[in-house]
Amino acid sequence: MEFDTAIIGAGAAGMMCAAHLEGRTLLVDHAKVAGEKIRISGGGRCNFTNLYTDPNAFICANPHFVKSALARYTQWDFIDLVQQHGIAWHEKTLGQLFCDNSAKDIIAMLNQLIDARTVERRLKSSISDIRKREEGFSFTLHTPEAKLQVSTRNLIIATGGKSIPKMGATGFAYEVAEQFGLPVTQTRPALVPFTFPDGRFAEISGVAVPSRIHADGPTFEEALLFTHRGLSGPAILQASSYWREGETVTLDILPADMYEALRNQRQQAGRKNFTTELARHLPSRLVDHLSGVFDLSGNLADWSDKRLSELMNGLKHWQVTPSGTEGYRTAEVTLGGVDTDALDSKTMASKNHPNLYFIGEAVDVTGWLGGYNFQWAWSSAMAAAKAL
Ligand code: FDA
Repeated sequence: MEFDTAIIGAGAAGMMCAAHLEGRTLLVDHAKVAGEKIRISGGGRCNFTNLYTDPNAFICANPHFVKSALARYTQWDFIDLVQQHGIAWHEKTLGQLFCDNSAKDIIAMLNQLIDARTVERRLKSSISDIRKREEGFSFTLHTPEAKLQVSTRNLIIATGGKSIPKMGATGFAYEVAEQFGLPVTQTRPALVPFTFPDGRFAEISGVAVPSRIHADGPTFEEALLFTHRGLSGPAILQASSYWREGETVTLDILPADMYEALRNQRQQAGRKNFTTELARHLPSRLVDHLSGVFDLSGNLADWSDKRLSELMNGLKHWQVTPSGTEGYRTAEVTLGGVDTDALDSKTMASKNHPNLYFIGEAVDVTGWLGGYNFQWAWSSAMAAAKAL
């Protein structure tokens, strides 16, 4: 079998690329259906891009690498595509765009575009024995029915990262990179909840509060969720991409104006129990938990301005040290991947093997939570598609 281009991985990036390629294309995936992560993303509604997509929202050893692809296929281009296909969408928060109906609309759109091209899909299939030929590559394609020899001019690796192995995630892209001498930066789970060994927050599991969370990176202002295993919620997932083992995380759960409000309450109702009054600003289960962390004893009248501001400071800079994360089992993405120094930022082609491309999450590019990772999948896929 001969193809112009073979794409391995029919996820977001692989489908997007196949949907825009001229020539005979082979699209291979070992899953039963294409686009499974799109289907489950965004709680089933797919947060397909972000209005504020900007290179600063991506983590990469070379922060300039993402600029070209993101500029040449922008969030507005993808929004146009979605609109052309009559998919209704809405902004939820912070520029995050979701389908009104279902993530399946995005998969259907990509499948429709692929159907309009000369693409041969091979699902429940994998490849092995990739060899470089004079012009292009050859490999063995393992389908449920047969083992087939394939040759192709271009080979595009779009097999994603290692997160959620249960859904078929593998380190295949890194193996191919290594085979062809491309370095791979250290990979680790990202956008992932933190764990604590001692069931530290189990008693307040389910409590959520607005927060500002800081690990070793930007401060993220979103919800914090306490869980049986530790800490989760969007602000924590964001911070996890910057956290390393052993480091502390700073939780700021201080509600705005609480200091002044408590001082006023003290004037009006000094004999009231402090924790009861605090529970007017924070969930009462959280206040119970905080009693074990800070000294919250006494009536309001017992709280001097100094003691009050010390507590405010404590709630603003609450330092915790996670023992780890939930790992690839629940991580939304993989941090690290194929080293961008080995790739052409305009085309995603390998600098040493110009017919070999890496797109999507397989590359050392990780977006923040909020639609940025899909935008990277679309933009990097289009960078390769436009080059072919
Ligand atoms: P993707 O993982 O989509 O596709 C890779 C494909 O390769 C898969 O189909 C897999 O089966 C196949 N494959 C792997 N190894 C193979 C092998 N050896 N042989 C053959 N096939 C192989 N992002 C976002 O922007 N907005 C959101 O709302 C969400 N929500 C979300 C929820 C959850 C639960 C997760 C886990 C992730 C998200 N994400 C997200 C992240 C987003 O899903 C992710 O960044 C993209 O799917 C990456 O696209 P890729 O095409 O690179 O990989």
